[in-house]
Amino acid sequence: MSFQERRDDQPRETAYETVDLGVLVIGAGAAGARTAIELVEQGVDPEDILVIGKRTHGDAHTTWARGGINGALGTHDPEDDWTIHAADTLKEGHFLNDPEKVETVTRRMPDVLRELDDWGMPYSRTDDGEIDQRYFGAQSFRRTAFAGDHTGESLMETLIRRARALSVPYRDDVFVTRLLTDDAAGRVLGAAGFDMDTGEFVLFDADVVVLAAGGHTSLYDRHSSRDDENTGDGPALAYQAGARLMDMEFVQFHPTGMVGGRYGEEWDGRLVTEAVRGEGGRLFNADVSASEASGGAGEQGSPAGERFMERYSPEQMELDARDVVARAIDREVREGRGTDDGGVYLDISHRDRDFIRERLPRMYERFAELGVDMATDPVEVAPTAHYGMGGVVVDAVGETDVDGLYAVGETMAGVHGANRLGGNSLAETVAFGVVTGAAIAARRQRGAVGGADSGVLYDRAAIHFADLGRLARSDGTYDPEALFDELREVLWAHAGIRRDDRGLSAGLDALADLRTRASDLAVGDPTTRSFAFAMNLGFALDVAEGILRGAAARTESRGAHARTDYPETDEEWRRNVVLHRDSVGAMRLTTTPVDEPSEAVQVALDAGYELDYHQLE
Ligand code: FUM
Repeated sequence: MSFQERRDDQPRETAYETVDLGVLVIGAGAAGARTAIELVEQGVDPEDILVIGKRTHGDAHTTWARGGINGALGTHDPEDDWTIHAADTLKEGHFLNDPEKVETVTRRMPDVLRELDDWGMPYSRTDDGEIDQRYFGAQSFRRTAFAGDHTGESLMETLIRRARALSVPYRDDVFVTRLLTDDAAGRVLGAAGFDMDTGEFVLFDADVVVLAAGGHTSLYDRHSSRDDENTGDGPALAYQAGARLMDMEFVQFHPTGMVGGRYGEEWDGRLVTEAVRGEGGRLFNADVSASEASGGAGEQGSPAGERFMERYSPEQMELDARDVVARAIDREVREGRGTDDGGVYLDISHRDRDFIRERLPRMYERFAELGVDMATDPVEVAPTAHYGMGGVVVDAVGETDVDGLYAVGETMAGVHGANRLGGNSLAETVAFGVVTGAAIAARRQRGAVGGADSGVLYDRAAIHFADLGRLARSDGTYDPEALFDELREVLWAHAGIRRDDRGLSAGLDALADLRTRASDLAVGDPTTRSFAFAMNLGFALDVAEGILRGAAARTESRGAHARTDYPETDEEWRRNVVLHRDSVGAMRLTTTPVDEPSEAVQVALDAGYELDYHQLE
């Protein structure tokens, strides 16, 4: 946390509510919901479970995932199967992924997609009534199932309906501030937090805790999430509780975020789904002369600029991997070929209006409200921080180094390696939700949980709540949200799309300065935004340090990590960077080698499948 530790002369007694549970699930997006559903399906009494979230039920970050969810159903391309999905995932991850976790997701997804169908997921369908699948970047086949361009929203509604039918309990507006552990036994005992409505402190006494609290890309100045979500709670809570983090240097910049200068700052960085490109959308720069020199931009109605992806990736064009397209856009803008507002054009006006409305309804409506008709005009886009490939180190079923503490979804590491395929994030949430939920249920059946000394829990809770009480009375110098915004600028400037040693060192210096100021905050009571941001800041400082340290250590370029001073990929660096907190609270870094894929996946890799963009034309 960003405030000083308790001194012995301060009160330990602070009133709080206690909730006694078997399994606490922190985070109510798709990963948390699917884990809870599996727990109940596998026989855990719903009254023994609680899913908590920081927002209103249903309003999770998952709802902002748009374009689709991957699974090798082979609706259009019967040749596709899970091994090719796994091979694409490993290639896109530049072979830093944990092959076992990749298999867990890709093998399971066809069944998981069908199960969602049984639960009423409103997929878009082919004329024959099959689950439709579209192209997404760097995938060999049409593998991305979707519900228009509101896939995350529809998935969330489906999971909530199922969870309600199973009587899974849920509580809104709870902010978890710390996991409470028995350090001697190396196990989790529960979690502490506060009710964001009433300000009351809450202690969750739980045998098992599941972190499904999302990722950390809101720590960047331009990001695709809302400002108060994806603030790094999941990885930071785990790290502070003694778990290790991995691959934190790998942050995905989605190529097409909305441009704030053009559409208003409240929209800056928000996603223009990859599905626009998956349905044929084309990228143009603003350089009319280059376009004329190469014979013009082509079809009538297209922007007058150059279709620049022809220079960067003539075979895969706009559907090359996200890192490739994001770096191409970044370069076009840096070299002066962007729009006045610092973006490029994304154009799908060569498709019929009815087609756009049917396949991309939310995008069509949103831009219409902003005065842009996608059926006749391009939109302006630029890269935006979208997804953290790194996260908490977990075993094959999602358990961390801390006994009884699990992590799922974007909070965990291992599936995506150095870069993630679009459509694999929703897939991971539900596939690992099933695996982790089943593992916890089996463990409970074996009786391998519970029995902890609650004296340790209550003692730790009392100290922590006294610290929180003191924070709520802090009358220091700095506004936590202002420091948080500064941290966002530091990461964007020094650990963004392009990195180098000087910038990363400057970033670490700036972070140390922020850490000093973060011990002198002006904070209101726990119902205030300043209190929430004080907590966010405490998490963000650790997560940002992990990103910067990992990026400084990795002296090569790989996937989303592009070092201008080390532009080549170095085979020696086919290792994961792992971070842990030592006994005096300092961050320590080690590296570990990556496992090899199974024989079945190796066969698919050797076959050399890849996306053929020109099928789209
Ligand atoms: O562009 C998108 O619709 C994002 C999908 C994803 O990140 O998986």
